[in-house]
Amino acid sequence: MTTQQLNTKIIHSIPVDPLTGAISVPIYQTSTFVQEAPGIHKGFDYSRSNNPTRKVLEDLLATLEHGHAGFAFASGLAAIDAVLKLLSAGDEILAVDDIYGGSFRLFTHVYEKFGIKVNYVDTTRIENVINQITPKTKMIWIETPTNPTLKISDLRAISAIAKTYEALLIVDNTFASPALQQPITLGADIIIHSATKYLGGHSDIIAGAVITKTLELSEKIKFIQNATGSILGPFDSWLLIRGIETLPLRIEKHSSNAIAIAKYLQEVSFIDKLYYPGIESHFNHKIACKQQSAFGSIISFSLKQDTIADAEKLVSQTKLFKIAESLGGVKSLICHPAQMTHKSIPEENRKAVGIQDSLIRLSVGIEDPTDLINDLKQAFKATFVAQKSLIPA
Ligand SMILES: Cc1ncc(COP(=O)(O)O)c(C=O)c1O
Repeated sequence: MTTQQLNTKIIHSIPVDPLTGAISVPIYQTSTFVQEAPGIHKGFDYSRSNNPTRKVLEDLLATLEHGHAGFAFASGLAAIDAVLKLLSAGDEILAVDDIYGGSFRLFTHVYEKFGIKVNYVDTTRIENVINQITPKTKMIWIETPTNPTLKISDLRAISAIAKTYEALLIVDNTFASPALQQPITLGADIIIHSATKYLGGHSDIIAGAVITKTLELSEKIKFIQNATGSILGPFDSWLLIRGIETLPLRIEKHSSNAIAIAKYLQEVSFIDKLYYPGIESHFNHKIACKQQSAFGSIISFSLKQDTIADAEKLVSQTKLFKIAESLGGVKSLICHPAQMTHKSIPEENRKAVGIQDSLIRLSVGIEDPTDLINDLKQAFKATFVAQKSLIPA
Protein backbone atom coordinates (compact mmCIF):
# COMPACT_ATOMS: atom_id res chain seq x y z
CA MET A 1 0.00 0.00 0.00
CA THR A 2 1.38 3.45 -0.93
CA THR A 3 1.61 6.31 1.58
CA GLN A 4 -1.24 8.01 -0.29
CA GLN A 5 -3.48 4.92 -0.03
CA LEU A 6 -2.63 4.56 3.65
CA ASN A 7 -3.58 8.23 4.17
CA THR A 8 -7.00 7.55 2.62
CA LYS A 9 -7.47 4.36 4.62
CA ILE A 10 -6.65 6.02 7.95
CA ILE A 11 -8.65 9.20 7.39
CA HIS A 12 -11.74 7.31 6.29
CA SER A 13 -11.53 4.63 8.98
CA ILE A 14 -12.27 7.37 11.50
CA PRO A 15 -16.06 7.55 11.58
CA VAL A 16 -18.17 10.69 11.41
CA ASP A 17 -20.03 10.97 14.74
CA PRO A 18 -23.34 9.10 14.17
CA LEU A 19 -25.21 11.26 16.70
CA THR A 20 -24.32 14.75 15.47
CA GLY A 21 -22.40 14.40 12.21
CA ALA A 22 -19.28 15.95 13.81
CA ILE A 23 -16.34 15.34 11.46
CA SER A 24 -13.91 15.36 14.38
CA VAL A 25 -14.42 12.54 16.87
CA PRO A 26 -16.19 13.99 19.93
CA ILE A 27 -14.36 13.77 23.26
CA TYR A 28 -16.72 11.84 25.52
CA GLN A 29 -15.35 13.22 28.77
CA THR A 30 -17.59 11.20 31.03
CA SER A 31 -17.07 8.52 33.63
CA THR A 32 -20.48 6.90 33.37
CA PHE A 33 -23.48 6.60 31.02
CA VAL A 34 -27.16 6.87 31.95
CA GLN A 35 -29.05 3.61 31.49
CA GLU A 36 -32.68 3.30 30.37
CA ALA A 37 -33.25 0.56 32.93
CA PRO A 38 -30.69 -1.48 34.92
CA GLY A 39 -28.41 -3.14 32.37
CA ILE A 40 -30.13 -1.50 29.36
CA HIS A 41 -27.74 0.97 27.70
CA LYS A 42 -26.23 2.00 24.37
CA GLY A 43 -23.16 -0.24 24.66
CA PHE A 44 -21.33 1.93 27.18
CA ASP A 45 -21.80 1.73 30.95
CA TYR A 46 -18.56 2.92 32.59
CA SER A 47 -15.52 4.56 30.96
CA ARG A 48 -12.90 2.18 32.39
CA SER A 49 -14.66 -0.65 30.57
CA ASN A 50 -15.41 1.28 27.39
CA ASN A 51 -15.60 4.83 26.17
CA PRO A 52 -16.81 6.01 22.74
CA THR A 53 -13.72 8.18 22.01
CA ARG A 54 -11.35 5.41 23.09
CA LYS A 55 -13.38 2.91 21.04
CA VAL A 56 -12.79 4.90 17.83
CA LEU A 57 -9.06 4.94 18.62
CA GLU A 58 -8.96 1.22 19.44
CA ASP A 59 -10.75 0.30 16.21
CA LEU A 60 -8.34 2.52 14.29
CA LEU A 61 -5.34 0.81 15.92
CA ALA A 62 -6.69 -2.61 14.90
CA THR A 63 -7.21 -1.42 11.31
CA LEU A 64 -3.73 0.10 11.11
CA GLU A 65 -2.01 -3.03 12.37
CA HIS A 66 -4.24 -5.60 10.60
CA GLY A 67 -5.29 -6.98 13.96
CA HIS A 68 -8.51 -8.38 15.41
CA ALA A 69 -8.76 -5.69 18.10
CA GLY A 70 -6.86 -2.74 19.53
CA PHE A 71 -6.59 -1.54 23.12
CA ALA A 72 -5.43 1.87 24.34
CA PHE A 73 -3.43 2.20 27.54
CA ALA A 74 -2.14 5.01 29.74
CA SER A 75 1.46 4.46 28.53
CA GLY A 76 3.59 2.10 26.47
CA LEU A 77 4.73 0.43 29.68
CA ALA A 78 1.13 -0.05 30.81
CA ALA A 79 0.50 -1.78 27.46
CA ILE A 80 3.55 -4.02 27.99
CA ASP A 81 2.43 -4.72 31.54
CA ALA A 82 -1.02 -5.84 30.31
CA VAL A 83 0.58 -8.31 27.88
CA LEU A 84 2.87 -9.69 30.60
CA LYS A 85 -0.22 -10.44 32.69
CA LEU A 86 -1.09 -13.18 30.18
CA LEU A 87 1.74 -15.19 31.81
CA SER A 88 1.77 -17.38 34.93
CA ALA A 89 4.52 -18.08 37.47
CA GLY A 90 7.12 -20.44 35.99
CA ASP A 91 6.69 -19.15 32.42
CA GLU A 92 9.66 -17.82 30.50
CA ILE A 93 10.19 -15.07 27.95
CA LEU A 94 12.88 -15.08 25.30
CA ALA A 95 13.62 -11.41 24.66
CA VAL A 96 15.79 -9.40 22.31
CA ASP A 97 18.93 -8.38 24.21
CA ASP A 98 18.96 -4.75 23.05
CA ILE A 99 15.58 -4.10 24.66
CA TYR A 100 14.14 -0.74 25.78
CA GLY A 101 15.44 0.01 29.30
CA GLY A 102 11.96 0.41 30.78
CA SER A 103 10.90 -3.03 29.52
CA PHE A 104 14.07 -4.52 31.04
CA ARG A 105 13.30 -2.79 34.36
CA LEU A 106 9.69 -4.06 34.35
CA PHE A 107 10.75 -7.63 33.50
CA THR A 108 13.56 -7.70 36.06
CA HIS A 109 12.32 -5.67 38.98
CA VAL A 110 8.59 -6.38 38.86
CA TYR A 111 7.94 -9.68 37.10
CA GLU A 112 10.95 -11.77 38.17
CA LYS A 113 9.67 -11.76 41.74
CA PHE A 114 6.39 -13.25 40.49
CA GLY A 115 8.32 -16.14 38.96
CA ILE A 116 8.65 -14.97 35.34
CA LYS A 117 12.11 -15.63 33.92
CA VAL A 118 13.50 -13.66 30.99
CA ASN A 119 16.36 -14.87 28.80
CA TYR A 120 17.97 -12.24 26.60
CA VAL A 121 19.52 -13.15 23.26
CA ASP A 122 20.64 -11.42 20.11
CA THR A 123 17.56 -12.28 18.05
CA THR A 124 19.13 -10.95 14.84
CA ARG A 125 20.85 -14.34 14.71
CA ILE A 126 18.12 -16.90 14.23
CA GLU A 127 20.30 -19.72 15.63
CA ASN A 128 20.29 -17.94 19.02
CA VAL A 129 16.49 -18.13 19.11
CA ILE A 130 16.54 -21.82 18.13
CA ASN A 131 19.20 -22.61 20.75
CA GLN A 132 17.64 -20.67 23.64
CA ILE A 133 13.94 -21.42 23.28
CA THR A 134 12.65 -24.01 25.75
CA PRO A 135 9.26 -25.69 26.38
CA LYS A 136 8.79 -23.11 29.17
CA THR A 137 9.10 -20.19 26.73
CA LYS A 138 5.61 -18.75 26.42
CA MET A 139 6.58 -15.51 24.67
CA ILE A 140 9.25 -14.37 22.27
CA TRP A 141 9.58 -10.62 22.80
CA ILE A 142 11.01 -8.66 19.89
CA GLU A 143 11.70 -5.01 19.25
CA THR A 144 12.64 -4.39 15.65
CA PRO A 145 14.33 -2.01 15.03
CA THR A 146 15.73 -1.95 18.56
CA ASN A 147 16.44 1.03 20.71
CA PRO A 148 19.06 2.51 20.25
CA THR A 149 21.32 0.32 18.06
CA LEU A 150 18.59 -0.40 15.50
CA LYS A 151 19.06 -4.12 15.23
CA ILE A 152 16.54 -5.79 12.93
CA SER A 153 15.19 -9.27 13.63
CA ASP A 154 13.60 -11.45 10.97
CA LEU A 155 9.96 -11.60 12.12
CA ARG A 156 8.84 -14.27 9.63
CA ALA A 157 11.61 -16.66 10.67
CA ILE A 158 11.09 -16.04 14.40
CA SER A 159 7.34 -16.49 14.05
CA ALA A 160 7.91 -19.96 12.54
CA ILE A 161 10.01 -20.94 15.60
CA ALA A 162 7.43 -19.47 18.01
CA LYS A 163 4.68 -21.53 16.36
CA THR A 164 6.68 -24.75 16.71
CA TYR A 165 6.98 -24.13 20.46
CA GLU A 166 3.43 -22.75 20.82
CA ALA A 167 4.91 -19.50 22.14
CA LEU A 168 3.36 -16.13 21.36
CA LEU A 169 5.37 -13.73 19.25
CA ILE A 170 5.12 -10.25 20.77
CA VAL A 171 6.45 -7.36 18.70
CA ASP A 172 7.11 -3.90 20.06
CA ASN A 173 6.47 -1.96 16.84
CA THR A 174 7.19 1.47 18.34
CA PHE A 175 10.29 2.18 16.27
CA ALA A 176 8.96 1.22 12.83
CA SER A 177 5.32 2.22 13.36
CA PRO A 178 2.55 0.60 11.30
CA ALA A 179 3.35 3.04 8.48
CA LEU A 180 6.57 1.07 7.81
CA GLN A 181 6.01 -2.41 9.19
CA GLN A 182 2.95 -4.55 10.02
CA PRO A 183 4.15 -7.38 12.28
CA ILE A 184 0.85 -9.31 12.34
CA THR A 185 1.16 -9.82 8.57
CA LEU A 186 4.65 -11.20 9.27
CA GLY A 187 3.45 -13.69 11.89
CA ALA A 188 3.22 -11.77 15.19
CA ASP A 189 0.43 -12.58 17.67
CA ILE A 190 0.46 -9.32 19.62
CA ILE A 191 1.81 -5.88 18.81
CA ILE A 192 2.56 -3.27 21.41
CA HIS A 193 3.34 0.41 20.98
CA SER A 194 4.61 3.26 22.97
CA ALA A 195 2.03 5.46 21.23
CA THR A 196 3.85 8.33 22.92
CA LYS A 197 6.23 8.19 19.95
CA TYR A 198 5.31 8.11 16.23
CA LEU A 199 1.60 7.34 16.65
CA GLY A 200 1.08 10.49 18.74
CA GLY A 201 3.82 12.22 16.79
CA HIS A 202 3.83 15.60 18.53
CA SER A 203 5.53 14.87 21.88
CA ASP A 204 2.35 15.87 23.70
CA ILE A 205 0.97 12.64 25.19
CA ILE A 206 2.02 9.50 27.01
CA ALA A 207 0.05 6.56 25.64
CA GLY A 208 0.31 2.88 24.83
CA ALA A 209 -1.39 0.36 22.56
CA VAL A 210 -1.88 -3.38 22.28
CA ILE A 211 -3.14 -4.96 19.08
CA THR A 212 -4.15 -8.62 19.07
CA LYS A 213 -4.37 -11.06 16.20
CA THR A 214 -7.14 -13.37 17.40
CA LEU A 215 -10.49 -13.20 19.17
CA GLU A 216 -9.08 -15.36 21.99
CA LEU A 217 -6.21 -12.95 22.66
CA SER A 218 -8.53 -9.95 22.30
CA GLU A 219 -10.84 -11.31 24.99
CA LYS A 220 -7.94 -11.91 27.35
CA ILE A 221 -6.44 -8.44 26.87
CA LYS A 222 -9.88 -6.80 27.16
CA PHE A 223 -10.36 -8.58 30.47
CA ILE A 224 -6.91 -7.48 31.76
CA GLN A 225 -7.45 -3.89 30.57
CA ASN A 226 -10.75 -3.65 32.45
CA ALA A 227 -9.60 -5.63 35.49
CA THR A 228 -6.40 -3.64 36.04
CA GLY A 229 -7.63 -0.30 34.74
CA SER A 230 -4.65 1.44 33.13
CA ILE A 231 -6.75 2.82 30.28
CA LEU A 232 -6.16 5.91 28.15
CA GLY A 233 -8.49 8.82 28.98
CA PRO A 234 -10.88 10.37 26.42
CA PHE A 235 -8.87 13.54 25.74
CA ASP A 236 -5.59 11.67 25.22
CA SER A 237 -7.47 9.18 23.01
CA TRP A 238 -8.63 12.10 20.89
CA LEU A 239 -5.10 13.52 20.68
CA LEU A 240 -3.85 10.12 19.58
CA ILE A 241 -6.53 9.82 16.87
CA ARG A 242 -5.48 13.26 15.63
CA GLY A 243 -1.82 12.24 15.62
CA ILE A 244 -2.52 9.04 13.68
CA GLU A 245 -4.37 11.00 10.98
CA THR A 246 -1.01 12.34 9.74
CA LEU A 247 1.16 9.29 10.57
CA PRO A 248 2.06 8.23 6.98
CA LEU A 249 2.82 11.82 5.92
CA ARG A 250 5.04 12.42 8.93
CA ILE A 251 6.85 9.10 8.64
CA GLU A 252 7.62 9.75 4.97
CA LYS A 253 9.28 13.07 5.86
CA HIS A 254 11.00 11.66 8.98
CA SER A 255 12.49 8.86 6.88
CA SER A 256 13.70 11.05 4.00
CA ASN A 257 15.27 13.51 6.45
CA ALA A 258 16.98 10.66 8.31
CA ILE A 259 18.45 9.23 5.10
CA ALA A 260 19.97 12.64 4.27
CA ILE A 261 21.43 12.97 7.77
CA ALA A 262 22.78 9.40 7.85
CA LYS A 263 24.57 10.08 4.54
CA TYR A 264 26.14 13.21 6.04
CA LEU A 265 27.17 11.34 9.22
CA GLN A 266 28.88 8.64 7.13
CA GLU A 267 31.46 11.31 6.19
CA VAL A 268 32.10 12.69 9.68
CA SER A 269 35.57 11.63 10.77
CA PHE A 270 34.85 11.78 14.54
CA ILE A 271 32.24 9.04 14.26
CA ASP A 272 33.17 5.46 14.96
CA LYS A 273 30.02 3.36 14.43
CA LEU A 274 26.94 4.60 12.61
CA TYR A 275 23.63 2.80 13.09
CA TYR A 276 20.85 3.40 10.56
CA PRO A 277 19.10 0.46 8.85
CA GLY A 278 18.64 2.52 5.69
CA ILE A 279 22.33 2.55 4.80
CA GLU A 280 23.92 -0.41 3.05
CA SER A 281 26.70 -0.78 5.62
CA HIS A 282 24.16 -1.47 8.41
CA PHE A 283 24.53 -5.10 9.52
CA ASN A 284 20.80 -5.82 9.08
CA HIS A 285 20.14 -3.67 6.01
CA LYS A 286 18.92 -6.60 3.87
CA ILE A 287 16.31 -7.84 6.32
CA ALA A 288 15.24 -4.23 6.99
CA CYS A 289 14.56 -3.84 3.23
CA LYS A 290 12.56 -7.08 3.28
CA GLN A 291 10.18 -6.30 6.13
CA GLN A 292 10.05 -2.49 6.28
CA SER A 293 8.92 -0.06 3.58
CA ALA A 294 11.33 2.67 4.80
CA PHE A 295 13.68 3.10 7.76
CA GLY A 296 12.27 5.66 10.18
CA SER A 297 13.91 8.60 11.91
CA ILE A 298 16.22 7.13 14.52
CA ILE A 299 19.96 7.27 13.91
CA SER A 300 22.58 6.35 16.49
CA PHE A 301 26.33 6.78 16.38
CA SER A 302 29.34 6.41 18.65
CA LEU A 303 32.41 8.61 18.73
CA LYS A 304 36.02 7.62 18.11
CA GLN A 305 36.73 9.29 21.45
CA ASP A 306 34.42 6.92 23.27
CA THR A 307 33.81 8.88 26.47
CA ILE A 308 30.75 10.05 28.34
CA ALA A 309 32.32 13.53 28.51
CA ASP A 310 32.67 13.87 24.72
CA ALA A 311 29.13 12.65 24.11
CA GLU A 312 27.81 15.05 26.74
CA LYS A 313 29.68 17.93 25.13
CA LEU A 314 28.31 17.13 21.67
CA VAL A 315 24.67 16.77 22.71
CA SER A 316 24.93 20.06 24.59
CA GLN A 317 26.03 21.93 21.45
CA THR A 318 23.09 21.28 19.11
CA LYS A 319 20.47 24.00 18.86
CA LEU A 320 17.68 22.45 16.73
CA PHE A 321 18.17 18.94 18.13
CA LYS A 322 16.92 19.40 21.70
CA ILE A 323 18.28 17.20 24.48
CA ALA A 324 15.36 15.05 25.55
CA GLU A 325 14.26 11.48 26.08
CA SER A 326 11.59 10.09 23.76
CA LEU A 327 11.46 10.09 19.98
CA GLY A 328 9.14 10.10 16.99
CA GLY A 329 7.85 13.67 17.33
CA VAL A 330 7.90 16.43 14.72
CA LYS A 331 10.74 18.24 16.55
CA SER A 332 14.24 16.75 16.37
CA LEU A 333 15.68 15.40 19.59
CA ILE A 334 19.13 14.25 20.69
CA CYS A 335 19.78 11.83 23.52
CA HIS A 336 22.71 10.26 25.32
CA PRO A 337 21.39 6.77 26.24
CA ALA A 338 24.13 5.96 28.79
CA GLN A 339 23.03 8.92 30.91
CA MET A 340 19.37 9.03 29.94
CA THR A 341 17.14 6.25 28.48
CA HIS A 342 19.45 3.35 29.36
CA LYS A 343 20.64 4.56 32.75
CA SER A 344 18.69 1.79 34.50
CA ILE A 345 20.58 -0.95 32.60
CA PRO A 346 23.77 -2.08 34.38
CA GLU A 347 26.89 -0.70 32.60
CA GLU A 348 28.14 -4.19 31.79
CA ASN A 349 24.86 -5.24 30.12
CA ARG A 350 24.59 -1.88 28.35
CA LYS A 351 28.05 -2.21 26.81
CA ALA A 352 27.50 -5.87 25.93
CA VAL A 353 24.64 -4.86 23.61
CA GLY A 354 26.69 -2.12 21.93
CA ILE A 355 25.52 0.93 23.87
CA GLN A 356 28.94 2.47 24.27
CA ASP A 357 29.67 5.39 26.60
CA SER A 358 29.68 7.81 23.66
CA LEU A 359 26.64 6.45 21.84
CA ILE A 360 24.31 9.26 20.79
CA ARG A 361 20.78 8.80 19.47
CA LEU A 362 19.03 11.22 17.14
CA SER A 363 15.30 11.36 16.61
CA VAL A 364 15.11 13.24 13.35
CA GLY A 365 12.08 15.51 13.11
CA ILE A 366 10.32 16.97 10.09
CA GLU A 367 12.30 20.23 9.87
CA ASP A 368 14.35 21.18 6.80
CA PRO A 369 17.12 18.55 6.42
CA THR A 370 19.75 21.16 5.48
CA ASP A 371 19.05 23.10 8.69
CA LEU A 372 19.38 19.88 10.69
CA ILE A 373 22.68 18.94 9.01
CA ASN A 374 24.03 22.46 9.60
CA ASP A 375 23.08 22.16 13.27
CA LEU A 376 25.05 18.92 13.59
CA LYS A 377 27.99 20.42 11.69
CA GLN A 378 28.28 23.36 14.09
CA ALA A 379 27.94 20.99 17.07
CA PHE A 380 30.82 18.79 15.84
CA LYS A 381 32.93 21.91 15.27
CA ALA A 382 32.21 23.30 18.72
CA THR A 383 32.92 19.95 20.39
CA PHE A 384 36.11 19.04 18.59
CA VAL A 385 37.37 22.58 18.09
CA ALA A 386 41.05 21.59 18.22
CA GLN A 387 40.57 19.13 15.36
CA LYS A 388 38.52 21.35 13.02
CA SER A 389 40.38 20.24 9.90
CA LEU A 390 38.90 16.74 10.25
CA ILE A 391 35.34 17.95 9.74
CA PRO A 392 34.03 17.67 6.17
CA ALA A 393 32.73 20.96 4.77
C1 LIG B 1 10.58 0.69 22.22
C2 LIG B 1 9.82 1.23 23.39
N1 LIG B 1 8.85 0.50 23.94
C3 LIG B 1 8.14 0.94 25.00
C4 LIG B 1 8.41 2.17 25.58
C5 LIG B 1 7.62 2.63 26.78
O1 LIG B 1 6.65 3.56 26.40
P1 LIG B 1 6.09 4.73 27.33
O2 LIG B 1 7.23 5.66 27.62
O3 LIG B 1 5.02 5.33 26.50
O4 LIG B 1 5.59 4.09 28.56
C6 LIG B 1 9.41 2.97 25.02
C7 LIG B 1 9.70 4.29 25.60
O5 LIG B 1 10.65 4.96 25.24
C8 LIG B 1 10.13 2.49 23.90
O6 LIG B 1 11.12 3.21 23.33
